[in-house]
Amino acid sequence: MVEAVAGKVYEFTTGSGGDTVDLGRKLAALLAPPQLLLLRGDLGTGKTTLVKGIAEALDAADQDEVTSPTFTLLHEYEGTREGKPIKLFHLDVYRLDGERQLETLGLDDLLTPDALVLIEWGDKFKSLRKRATGEIAISSSGGDGRKIVVTLKE
Ligand SMILES: Nc1ncnc2c1ncn2[C@@H]1O[C@H](COP(=O)(O)OP(=O)(O)OP(=O)(O)O)[C@@H](O)[C@H]1O
Ligand SMILES: [Mg+2]
Repeated sequence: MVEAVAGKVYEFTTGSGGDTVDLGRKLAALLAPPQLLLLRGDLGTGKTTLVKGIAEALDAADQDEVTSPTFTLLHEYEGTREGKPIKLFHLDVYRLDGERQLETLGLDDLLTPDALVLIEWGDKFKSLRKRATGEIAISSSGGDGRKIVVTLKE
């Protein structure tokens, strides 16, 4: 299930929502802060589901506490990674229109050295594509199957 394709590109497949939560738990080890990652994928492919696992692995929140920030835009959690405090920011900018609305989120202030910023639908915005340190792209491979590709710049 875990396969490094080339450099900092990692490809995974999952067969259920639970599988994707488990994968999120493992991914937390790959995602050293600071990191601003775009979560890409069609509606309902499993972006929020993946964040549940990441949040659990960081002791930032239980999976049931991690819900979609579609209306609230931003959820903030505090956790621990490798013995150090980490801030986890989970955003969903699906409903935001235009760069000016985006600016009101104050993203530059979020990306502190201890921050992991995960943005659903972030690829909609050019400024976020520029600022991203990587992306996690989820696509359906039929039924409950998903292909999940993690690309980390560096
Ligand atoms: N392999 C899978 N990985 C992730 N989710 C899956 C999988 N198979 C089925 N599902 C189901 O698909 C749904 C994914 O919903 P989720 O809210 O995580 O999607 P999303 O990408 O965040 O959607 P949105 O763009 O609306 O925010 C969940 O109900 C989940 O149980
Ligand atoms: Mg979502």
